[in-house]
Amino acid sequence: MNDERTEQTPAEQLHHISQTVRRELKARFDNVEAQGRATLSPSEAERQLQELKDLLIKSLGKKSEFANLKKSIGRLPAEERGPFGQRIQQTEDELVQGFDDKEAYRERLIEAARIERESIDVTLPGRRPRPGHLHPITLMRQRIEDIFVSLGYAVEDDREIETDFYNFDALNIPEGHPARDPQDTFYTTDGFALRSQTSTVQIHAMQRRGAPVRMIAPGRVFRRDTPDPTHNPMFFQVEGLCVDRGISMAHLKGTLAEFVHRLLGPETKTRFRPSYFPFTEPSAEVDYSCFSCVGKGCRICKWSGWIELGGSGMVHPNVLRTAGVDPEEFTGFAFGLGIDRTCARIYQLDDIRLLFENDVRFLEQFR
Ligand code: DAH
Repeated sequence: MNDERTEQTPAEQLHHISQTVRRELKARFDNVEAQGRATLSPSEAERQLQELKDLLIKSLGKKSEFANLKKSIGRLPAEERGPFGQRIQQTEDELVQGFDDKEAYRERLIEAARIERESIDVTLPGRRPRPGHLHPITLMRQRIEDIFVSLGYAVEDDREIETDFYNFDALNIPEGHPARDPQDTFYTTDGFALRSQTSTVQIHAMQRRGAPVRMIAPGRVFRRDTPDPTHNPMFFQVEGLCVDRGISMAHLKGTLAEFVHRLLGPETKTRFRPSYFPFTEPSAEVDYSCFSCVGKGCRICKWSGWIELGGSGMVHPNVLRTAGVDPEEFTGFAFGLGIDRTCARIYQLDDIRLLFENDVRFLEQFR
């Protein structure tokens, strides 16, 4: 026990305790109020709030000197108890009030910070979402579809995984036929293959719809090619098929001429070169006059004045027959165009692989 303390009267002890508590409160917690501004960070205010509560317990709690003093009231002479009891209560009220003021101030700071944090400044500009856009190949496919739909063609969407029958046999390419070679594709372990041409849809469409039929079939095809500036193992074609009574080569030429007029402008010419495809007889390669130099010769058309569009021809009777259409009653023409190849030419891309790398910096140019 502290001798000096024991010699003090209860009144002196009360005075001493209250002075000590006030001094400590002032020294540790007067800082911010004195500056008259909310200079405490919310986290610091939070910390001080806890510190205040700890100090309150230490100063006036059950185990405090103050509590001991209160207990000692009972030992005072009867006539002193009342007045001293009142003084001690008054001191306690004042001290608690001192704590309350400081706590309230810190709570206000914390609350103000919370409101600030949660408030929305409606005058701030919004965050603009980055809208996506269609891929250039999709844009080209849609342009092609629009033209053929307006000519009365249906758009067929068909499977990419095929049997040999649809990819080759039904298209008049029997096993061992040399035409299978450049169309070597990717095979699954159970005898299926990724289609190497959209011509497969000719067969499906005729089996489904019978004749007459007019349809185009855009889609992915696959070949075992090593990627280079003009090749990719996956690319896009659009197949066309028109089967009816009395269809001739003139219809084929007229249709593709109309197509390039609508795609590239009415001055665009077409050229048909004799060729060979197992599923057409006769067969022709189709070229269109260069949209840049209009046939005079430039870098885009490699100085020939012409750009290759694709293959075409009159549907082979074997193909019609295999698909369940009577070649004595119906004839038809077919064509197959490269969508990405046309896309690369029109956008003047030096490397077709750019279309498949999906680098947004590249794709964003084609919005
Ligand atoms: N399927 C051929 C290819 O991938 C393109 C083709 C040529 C399609 C002539 C046709 C056609 O429909 O008649 O090379």
